[in-house]
Amino acid sequence: MTRSHLHFLLNGENVTLSDVRPDETLLDFLRLRRSLKGTKEGCAEGDCGACTVLVGRLSGGNLVYEGVNSCIRFTGSLDGCHVVTIEHLRGTDGGLHPVQQAMVDFHGSQCGFCTPGFVMSLYGLWMREPNPADATIEKALQGNLCRCTGYEAIMRAARAVSHYGEAGRDPLVSERAEIIARLKAMRDGKRVEIGAGKERFVVPASLDDLAAVVETEPNARVVSGSTDVGLWVTKHFRDISPVVFIGGLDELRQVSEADDVITIGAGVSYTDAYAALAGRIPALRPLLDRIGGDQVRNMGTIGGNIANGSPIGDTPPPLIALGAELTLRKGDARRTIKLEDFFIDYGKQDRAAGEFVEALHVPVPEDGMLFAVHKITKRRDEDITAVLGAFHLRIEGGSVVSARIAYGGMAAIPKRALAVEAKLVGQPWTVETVEAAMMAFESDYQPISDMRASGDYRMIVARNLLMRVFLESEGETAHVARYEVAR
Ligand SMILES: Cc1cc2nc3c(=O)[nH]c(=O)nc-3n(C[C@H](O)[C@H](O)[C@H](O)COP(=O)(O)OP(=O)(O)OC[C@H]3O[C@@H](n4cnc5c(N)ncnc54)[C@H](O)[C@@H]3O)c2cc1C
Ligand code: FES
Ligand code: FES
Repeated sequence: MTRSHLHFLLNGENVTLSDVRPDETLLDFLRLRRSLKGTKEGCAEGDCGACTVLVGRLSGGNLVYEGVNSCIRFTGSLDGCHVVTIEHLRGTDGGLHPVQQAMVDFHGSQCGFCTPGFVMSLYGLWMREPNPADATIEKALQGNLCRCTGYEAIMRAARAVSHYGEAGRDPLVSERAEIIARLKAMRDGKRVEIGAGKERFVVPASLDDLAAVVETEPNARVVSGSTDVGLWVTKHFRDISPVVFIGGLDELRQVSEADDVITIGAGVSYTDAYAALAGRIPALRPLLDRIGGDQVRNMGTIGGNIANGSPIGDTPPPLIALGAELTLRKGDARRTIKLEDFFIDYGKQDRAAGEFVEALHVPVPEDGMLFAVHKITKRRDEDITAVLGAFHLRIEGGSVVSARIAYGGMAAIPKRALAVEAKLVGQPWTVETVEAAMMAFESDYQPISDMRASGDYRMIVARNLLMRVFLESEGETAHVARYEVAR
């Protein structure tokens, strides 16, 4: 059962579309086809947040609104969703929305180009957290850049929004039952297929349907959160069709927790994986907080981070260090492999034609394990990794009993430091052992120089991160002097 059109809500309007290109972005749809020009294009690569809109989706029985970058979100991924743009904030009397009024009164806007994006991010925040702490506001605005106002005025506006209105009376909250009913009515359980020949995209009706589509069309491009693929279109003008959009499949968006393992569906976003991963494995929290900005975390998936096979993806090194496994599916057949075996070479993964990533299984570190992750970037927030090290060690009776160490940014793939591990295991956990292990990095890695870092810098950083883990495990100050002498 298929249909050849999409249904979604755009502000208050039911939209039905049958003429959509696989690579049409939501931003182009809004600005070029609907003349909704309040949403701005700044970078067209998910970095600046000027294009932020809210997308509401049904999750279980709830309706969840999330800020997304419309510049890298594809229109074809919106079936059954509610798109909310800055134009929807206009009150019935034509007045400003509480978020807009706060931005005006606290001088949160100068040239104004970034302002609609800030307003939409703050609107999303206000609905889920009407009286946010400063750290919560800062996190919500990580994905919004402003060149002229200076963030303090925007922070003041953000703190004040609830003085201008009550979130519970906002139409998106007070009319929620009606919106849910309208979105549910769009769910007919049918596969969506739009376009013909190569210029085509499919939105599978279920996980089994996805398996059937990918098996029969092994060359189709699977698109999940599109935070990588979106840039292939907007920056590299790559032809991505035919496309299979999987972001709306509830069965791929499940997280389940057992005592010793967390299973994460390939379509789970960073935002939805956060509670389980950061809650059970606290060392992952700072890393997850620094992946993109809120908009990227709302769209991007860990499954996509892995399937993309990038040597600088942030989740593979810690997941490899933890001993994570990956389930791949082709048709009805599934196989589960060690995550580290998935990465074969640059751009080459252990994924057969017609196969897709279905789920990830993350072991929770046992009591007493030392687990640490360090991401090194030029800028703290919204920056891509130069080097990332993940360390999972068991130290007992002062000696290293086991070690799993993996790095990103050091090789063509995320890769374990097997020679370094060998220098540690069975040895006393001392500065001398760590210094000896630091010399083994050259056996594991020959990092390249690129725009993010030189090969020499990467090597020094990689070694020092191991020392950092040692120093932190021992109580930093006690060993700093000793280490400086040793260098
Ligand atoms: C502004 C910005 C900041 C970013 N910051 C970071 C960062 O800090 N750290 C980081 O690691 N990454 C970062 N990224 C990159 C990106 O967000 C991540 O790699 C993300 O996890 C990709 O997931 P996705 O669902 O968006 O993948 P998509 O873009 O949808 O897909 C990526 C690749 O995976 C394939 N794919 C996706 N799902 C599956 C599946 N289930 N089975 C088979 N193949 C699949 C696609 O075909 C494609 O090849 C950033 C991106 C942007 C735009
Ligand atoms: S235009 Fe910059 S994030 Fe979309
Ligand atoms: S007000 Fe000018 S970029 Fe923010």
